[in-house]
Amino acid sequence: MGSLPFVGRDAALTELAAAVTAGEHVLLRGPPGIGKSRLVEETLRVARSTGLSDAGRHVDRLLASASTSGRALSTLAPLLPTGAAGGDLAAVLATLSRRWRQLARAGEAPLVWLDDAHHADAMSAVVLRYATSPGDVQLLATRRDTDPLPDDVEALLREGTLRVVDVGPLRDGDVVRIATAAAGRPLDTDRAARVVDLAGGNPLFARELALAAAGVGEPWGGLDDLVGHQVAALPPHQRRVLELVAAAEPTPAALLAGDEESVADWSVAAGRPPPPTVALEAARLDALRPPEQP
Ligand SMILES: Nc1ncnc2c1ncn2[C@@H]1O[C@H](COP(=O)(O)OP(=O)(O)O)[C@@H](O)[C@H]1O
Ligand SMILES: [Mg+2]
Repeated sequence: MGSLPFVGRDAALTELAAAVTAGEHVLLRGPPGIGKSRLVEETLRVARSTGLSDAGRHVDRLLASASTSGRALSTLAPLLPTGAAGGDLAAVLATLSRRWRQLARAGEAPLVWLDDAHHADAMSAVVLRYATSPGDVQLLATRRDTDPLPDDVEALLREGTLRVVDVGPLRDGDVVRIATAAAGRPLDTDRAARVVDLAGGNPLFARELALAAAGVGEPWGGLDDLVGHQVAALPPHQRRVLELVAAAEPTPAALLAGDEESVADWSVAAGRPPPPTVALEAARLDALRPPEQP
């Protein structure tokens, strides 16, 4: 399933695109599913089509996740050469500073999109602080406002050094537009009102409620019912993986290793990316493993 047509958020989009184009550090804050990551995507699209394309930009997207937040430098691992994540902070700083300065010299001012910053590991946060304070890199971060921040991440995202934008609920009309697009047909007045009521302005909930209404029948008891229906419809091997991740996140990747195929099946069937724990490639995990002691 492709992503739904983007709705609402006009004011936030204008503010964010201007801030990003002007080189400000920005933090988007809000609950899960409210549309933080999507708003960043749209912001970058708008910024690219206006001011940014002239200057040229390079975006490094970093996706922090619960399953790796305890591993030093895991957040920055996609930008590091294999083996560099062993923990040598000075070497990592030198490598990344060189990368970002080279990009800047080539006219591609670097921007780091740190998604789900509340899961960033401490050492990556320290490296990003070193890089953002002198302005080698512009930071565009998202975080859940429901999760506490580790100290070093808190320091990276200290209010006053970046523009904070709270991402709140969508308007009722926009919720209905999302539900209609997800269901693939107009909803009658009762159903539309029910989606608005249950979704609470959250686009992820709006989409799931509308999909359920289109597919499984009338699971209108609420989100609990909806999730129950969806889980019950999965084949047993896929359900096992889902339950493992749900109950035990962060789930050691080795625990799921035998189930890669089931997860891939589930992800295709559900039209969604695999859960972050499973999305980690084996190579990346290898790179994160500390060097063996002699
Ligand atoms: N304004 C919007 N219009 C249409 N779809 C949206 C909007 N905001 C979010 N979505 C969709 O809702 C889902 C959840 O959004 P996402 O950005 O992943 O939330 P978050 O990052 O806050 O957890 C995604 O499928 C996204 O494409
Ligand atoms: Mg997100």
